[in-house]
Amino acid sequence: MDKKIKTAVIFGTRPEAIKMAPLVLELKKREDFETITIVTAQHRQMLDQVLELFNIIPDFDLNLMKPNQNLWNLTSGILQQTKEIFEKTKPDIVLVHGDTTTAFASALSAFYARIPIGHVEAGLRTFNKDYPFPEEINRVLADSVSDLHFAPTEGSIQNLLNSGIKEGTSNRALDNSYENGRRIYKTGNTVIDALLYTVEKNIDLSFIGLNPNLKTILLTSHRRENFGKPLENICDAILEIIQNNKDIEVVYPVHLNPNVRNVVFSKLQGIDRIKLIDPLDYAPFCALMKKSHIILTDSGGVQEEAPSLGIPVLVLRDETERPEAVDCGCVKLVGTDKEKIVSTVQKLLNSSDFYNSMKMAVNPYGDGHASERIANIISSWHKNML
Ligand code: UD1
Ligand code: UDP
Repeated sequence: MDKKIKTAVIFGTRPEAIKMAPLVLELKKREDFETITIVTAQHRQMLDQVLELFNIIPDFDLNLMKPNQNLWNLTSGILQQTKEIFEKTKPDIVLVHGDTTTAFASALSAFYARIPIGHVEAGLRTFNKDYPFPEEINRVLADSVSDLHFAPTEGSIQNLLNSGIKEGTSNRALDNSYENGRRIYKTGNTVIDALLYTVEKNIDLSFIGLNPNLKTILLTSHRRENFGKPLENICDAILEIIQNNKDIEVVYPVHLNPNVRNVVFSKLQGIDRIKLIDPLDYAPFCALMKKSHIILTDSGGVQEEAPSLGIPVLVLRDETERPEAVDCGCVKLVGTDKEKIVSTVQKLLNSSDFYNSMKMAVNPYGDGHASERIANIISSWHKNML
């Protein structure tokens, strides 16, 4: 049998774990791969629940998370610790995901170690350096040091081509075998693989204590650029929506970041029909999305998942790197202006035509087979290298 493809898969936060887990399972199924799973644990509890759901036991756990951590410590910790692991394990390829500090710092570290890099969820852009911060620059940097770009959509491919990515990096081994080869592949987003793995599970949500006579609005918000005033505006909008509509309740699984929790709890704790709960594990969260009437969110992953479930999503941001969901009609950008949030929610509650126009169940992000495609591409890339 040919030499196995030693593939190091690195992730650290909840969304990366959700989106890399199906790929880890796919690689582990295949005989031609030797898979090394490395978690930075940029998140701890929110990462561990995903590892448990998908039965993944990491080979290396950097255990980096600190309460209210900063980007400098995180970045240097990842660089330092992955260096040692790369030297010890000598992978043929390192796979990183998306736009987190884990993704960028791990990609940079692999580049320094002269290891080929595959970027999963490559090519997303707002073209605004500060929105989202620091994710836009994290993904630009991860893309620019990567060799194989697994782009979820046609739009992300265009973004990569417009950045000159097809010229590739200076990695000699890749240049020899891929002289004129495409380095950008349309794979779909692995989030749909994860969603389909999870969403059919029969999950008991009684622990949340939803009132069956009320419509549920699901809220999540955690982006750094929304810290402070924008997050206060979001909370004020929720208070007004609750006051104006006696037939709804709001469920907010509050992110563990203290910059989020301090504001949210001081504004919304103890208010009738607002449930502030801890972040939900992925399977109950999917079940709750499915049951919700409307979703308000600044999350990237939720914008990709909701079109599969046919739930209208209002995005609490001014810009998105996921225009496909907006184009398909399921997602609208409302930003963080209180009046805009209140009036758009009210329109959804009052107008069934408007509501139904957003209730699509067509997903532009994938068909649930992205992980298989990525594994196939790595396999043929590796054959060409031998
Ligand atoms: C990170 C990512 C962001 C992603 C988000 C997903 C960066 C710079 N940011 O932001 O792109 O959208 O994750 O949720 O990579 N915490 C815990 N337990 C956990 C997770 C977080 O206590 O399991 C708390 C800790 O105090 C931690 C803080 O949240 O220091 C912030 O975590 P961090 O990963 O730095 O930032 P996020 O806002 O989660
Ligand atoms: N999610 C979850 N529990 C929650 C909130 C979100 O499992 O309480 C999932 C959600 O379904 C999506 C992912 O977490 O797959 C998104 O993560 P997050 O919003 O933290 O990050 P982003 O996608 O914005 O980077």
